[in-house]
Amino acid sequence: MRVHVVGTGLIGTSLGLALTRHGDEVTLEDAVPTHAALARDLGAGRLPGEGETLDPQLVVVAAPPDVTAGCVATALERWPSAAVTDVASVKGAVLARLRAADADLGRYCGSHPMAGRERSGAVSGRHDLFDGRAWVLTPTAETRPQARELVADVARAAGAAVLELPPEGHDRAVAVVSHVPQLAASLVAARLETLDEDAVALAGQGLRDVTRIAASDPHLWTQILAGNAPAVREVLAGLAEDLDRLLEALAALADGGDAPGARGALAGVIAAGNLGQARIPGKHGAAPTSLETVRVLLPDEPGQLGRLFADIGAIGVNVEEFHLDHGLGQQLGLAEVEVLPAAAAGLAQALGERGWRIHG
Ligand SMILES: NC(=O)c1ccc[n+]([C@@H]2O[C@H](COP(=O)([O-])OP(=O)(O)OC[C@H]3O[C@@H](n4cnc5c(N)ncnc54)[C@H](O)[C@@H]3O)[C@@H](O)[C@H]2O)c1
Repeated sequence: MRVHVVGTGLIGTSLGLALTRHGDEVTLEDAVPTHAALARDLGAGRLPGEGETLDPQLVVVAAPPDVTAGCVATALERWPSAAVTDVASVKGAVLARLRAADADLGRYCGSHPMAGRERSGAVSGRHDLFDGRAWVLTPTAETRPQARELVADVARAAGAAVLELPPEGHDRAVAVVSHVPQLAASLVAARLETLDEDAVALAGQGLRDVTRIAASDPHLWTQILAGNAPAVREVLAGLAEDLDRLLEALAALADGGDAPGARGALAGVIAAGNLGQARIPGKHGAAPTSLETVRVLLPDEPGQLGRLFADIGAIGVNVEEFHLDHGLGQQLGLAEVEVLPAAAAGLAQALGERGWRIHG
């Protein structure tokens, strides 16, 4: 396939790397020429030659959301026989601008790879970024089947699994699964800014899990949130109601009070969270899987993690998730090895027999 990528940051470069590995012909372009040159140097494709006329089958616009519609409209005009997609995290706003510009929507099929990182730029690109991740196509009634098929082929070639949603359905879904989680992570992490050093030092895996994406780029996220303002606002309004109920319950329990219903309200919040969390799909979009954690204490020394993984491999257990925490003020690490429930007891016993200290 001949694919032209416009915007060679994290997503454009990752796509170029994945398609080049797949054997496709990728050309690269960016408003900042050095960004495209860097993506080329990293192996994401080639730059068009001086005066070369490109003839791509598909153009992928991977530029920031605010300029995406303009880049798509330009690409539709520049390459009258190519299909065009974009990867912006919001779909309704891009489509509305294209409609207003009277663009040829038959050759356009919007899309959104549900993969990313909290870092931007070509240097953060990874060839396996899309492996096993969903790539949502948002065709409209105007989209011709050929355009839709080309975008699906490219998404699959990059390693992703293809899903389809209408643009508005996509925007409502990502408000809940991506945009509000970003805001929640940022709001929680912002509480740490003025916290005493001693208090921050108590941070454990829970805080790291909840705030990992708070390291995201404010410029990109301002565009994403503004582009999906109605759907994000609706989810946040629901959260605000829940927060109000929580505040009422906590107020009723303050000063040792025991107002009827207040403890139930607290338990209700955690229990509802349990139910929601259990619905998050497992690896590669599979059905949700409950995992069990085997905790292993390991000396904070070179080579220990390698030895632990080698032993787990020799025992024949697949690691589903892994976290490493460091004991405060101790030369010890706490490795949390998450495995399928049926494997947990056997793994803990076999690791114990090999001399590892199993915790809890
Ligand atoms: N970062 C993520 O996790 C993620 C995930 C899925 C989708 N997306 C979407 O992918 C798109 C790109 O995001 P990113 O994280 O790769 O951003 P990025 O900042 O890493 O890269 C954006 C690139 O676009 C270039 N650019 C800016 N204006 C341009 C223009 N007018 N024409 C050509 N190139 C232009 C920039 O120079 C930069 O190299 C965004 O629309 C974003 O919503 C991002």
